[in-house]
Amino acid sequence: MAKRPLLVGNWKMHGDGGDLAVIVAIGEAARRHPAVDVALSLPATLIDRARRVCPGLAIGGQDCHPEPSGAHTGDISAPMLREAGASLVLLGHSERRQDHHEDDALIAAKLRAARAAGLEVILCVGETAEDHAAGRSAEVVRGQLTLSLAGMNGQGIAIAYEPVWAIGGDRTPEPKEVAAMVGLIRNTVAGARVLYGGSVTPDNGEALFVDGGIDGFLVGRQSLDADAFTAILKLIDGTAR
Ligand code: 13P
Repeated sequence: MAKRPLLVGNWKMHGDGGDLAVIVAIGEAARRHPAVDVALSLPATLIDRARRVCPGLAIGGQDCHPEPSGAHTGDISAPMLREAGASLVLLGHSERRQDHHEDDALIAAKLRAARAAGLEVILCVGETAEDHAAGRSAEVVRGQLTLSLAGMNGQGIAIAYEPVWAIGGDRTPEPKEVAAMVGLIRNTVAGARVLYGGSVTPDNGEALFVDGGIDGFLVGRQSLDADAFTAILKLIDGTAR
């Protein structure tokens, strides 16, 4: 059975109170496309305000600590995200794997904490440029999935395939490369929705969506612009039927 498409925007460390109008515009676009699940993963400082200005839009965090509370200065827990109004969280993003040296065991602990708090999880996986050049993409992604899921099934989890080399630039894999990785992911995690992320735009989205065989996108830069994000939402809604 075809899964409901899912479009998630990752605002990373962008956005403040001056951007609430963008969130409202995205919420309105989401209402016009009820066949697609839409969510925005925002900086923690915006979660509560986004929920207030846009009660119908799913809001996510971008990370959580494995513990529910404690002496962990600067961190945020899954129950805190939930209480602030988030219904999902990104885990294992390559920027956290790199900047904060997160490994799969830590991501597995975060994943259990997020699910225990009732948050849906977007688990990010993807190979570096070096691994891609060496032909190790499948091996790397399979390892990340196995270790970070640590025996959990796909319940409440979507997998975002984000090749590290495709993030934040203008290069994307060929749709057939995406399709091969999507096949591997579906074989490893039955039932989970599979997203693609990395330099998605309204122009390259359709080929990636249709020929990549994905259930949706995790979008960075283009989610900061309501018109561009809405154009991606429209193409998903138009091609998913
Ligand atoms: P860009 O869409 O800006 O390349 O970012 C992708 C990403 O990292 C989403 O999580």
